[in-house]
Order: sequence, then C-alpha cells, then structure tokens
Amino acid sequence: MRNLNHETITDAVLQRQAATDNPRLKRIMESLVQHLHAFAREVNLTEAEWQQGIEFLTRCGHITTDRRQEFILLSDVLGLSMLTVAMNHDKPAECTEATVFGPFHVDGAPHYDPGADISNGARGVPCLVRGTVRGLDGSPVVNASIDVWQSDEEGLYDVQHADIDHAQARGILHPDAEGRYHFRSILAVPYAIPHDGPVGDLLKATGRHPWRPAHLHFMIEAPGYETLITHVFRGDDAWLDSDAVFGVRQSLIADWKEQPDGTYLVEYDFVLNPSS
Ligand code: BEZ
Ligand code: FE
Repeated sequence: MRNLNHETITDAVLQRQAATDNPRLKRIMESLVQHLHAFAREVNLTEAEWQQGIEFLTRCGHITTDRRQEFILLSDVLGLSMLTVAMNHDKPAECTEATVFGPFHVDGAPHYDPGADISNGARGVPCLVRGTVRGLDGSPVVNASIDVWQSDEEGLYDVQHADIDHAQARGILHPDAEGRYHFRSILAVPYAIPHDGPVGDLLKATGRHPWRPAHLHFMIEAPGYETLITHVFRGDDAWLDSDAVFGVRQSLIADWKEQPDGTYLVEYDFVLNPSS
C-alpha cells in the first residue's frame, strides 16, 4: 500500500485491521475509523486544527487523577454518556429511568443503618430522604444495596475538597422488609461541573454554561434485578432544561418539600427491572 490519498486511505486502514479476532472489536473499529475519517473530510480538518485536538486530549489526560476524571466529563458534555445510557436501558415504562453515572462515585462508601445521617460532616441544610425499592410486580426488593452520593452546599463532592480525606454525603443503605428506605443528608443544590480545565474551555468556546440541576445520585443493586444508576432531581431547579450533561428525565424529578423547621423532605419510590 503506497501512494495512499485522501480517498483511498480509509479502505487501507480497514484492510490493515481486517484480521481483528474479536468480532465486536472489529465492528467498533471499522465504524470508528470510517466515522473519524468522514468527520475529518467533512470539516476539511487542517493539520493545525488536529494538533489543537491532540493538545486538548493531552490536557484531558494530564488533569485526570484518581479524584478528577476529565474524559468522563468530556463524554458527558458531548452527550455521549447520556446517549449510551438511553440506548442501553430499554425497559418497561413503570421502571425507574436511568441517567448518567458522572465522575464522582467512589467505590467502598461507608454502610449506614436505616435513618442514619450520611452527610458525615458535609455542610448543608438538613434533608430527609425516603421511599421504597420495589420490583415491577410491586414486591419489595429487600436485599437491595442503595449507594447514594451528592454534593454539599457549595456544590462540591467530598473528593473535590483537597482537605477532606473521608467519605462525606455518600453511603450505602439497605431497605427494610417492606422495601422502605430512609436516610438523613443535606439539601442538594445546583452546581457547576468542574470547568477549570480543558472541558471548561470547550464549554466556554462553544457558548455553554457548566451547570447541573440539583440532584441526588443513586446506584441500586439487587440480585435478580438490573442495576439502576440514576438521579433524583429537585423540581424547583432553574437548570432542569439546560443540564450541562443532558441527564434530566421528567420521571426523575421530585418535589423537595420545605418543612416548618426549615429542613427538607424528599420522597422517591424506585422500581427495578428484573434481569433477564
Ligand atoms: C455529577 O452529577 O456528579 C456529574 C455528572 C456529569 C459530569 C459531572 C458531574
Ligand atoms: Fe452530581
């Protein structure tokens, strides 16, 4: 293969990788190469522009640590995370919808008893969260593990605070025999996703804001059910229609009720999809 030009190079790459053993990888790589090349042709990509692209990706790599994941952020703001969620969670309408995972989940969060305060020192207005976890047939999912995480009143997760080295406003709980769960935490507030790095520069250059509407994150796992990764959003939030990462679904919006003592209450019932 010599003297390849802009018309013949795509087929040359496809032929070169034609021996890929894994059929799924082969399919993905073929499509990736075709679409990447088509994109470069469509916009008449210059060498200087591609160099800028490489520098952008390099900055994403350099800023990524075990506490900050710029590539997840990039996927989120490009809508790719939500696209893959939307394509992969076809389930009955009665089931709770999934949304983006985001970069701030931490494995091995502390386990809490029902009713415990998971804020563990995180600052914010006290909030009680309660509801049920049930299957499609309405039966309680008693052996579910409910992994919750959220930001504090500054809109920051514990891992974003350089001076905090323990879990705050995150934890794992289990429902009771009727599928009911409840825990205390703090009021979720809207926050800006990290925008002091390359993804922030991209948002700025494309005239976008970095805000997410207030939400709690949930990951609910139970034997016999599909794992549910989702949020519960605050219904009074101004950013619901322009979430920076496109994660809002109407069915995930709840009414967070202010109580006479100034604390808040939010109730949300989850319905899990049985695994096939
Ligand atoms: C989050 O909700 O934690 C999140 C999701 C996507 C990007 C940044 C943050
Ligand atoms: Fe979040």
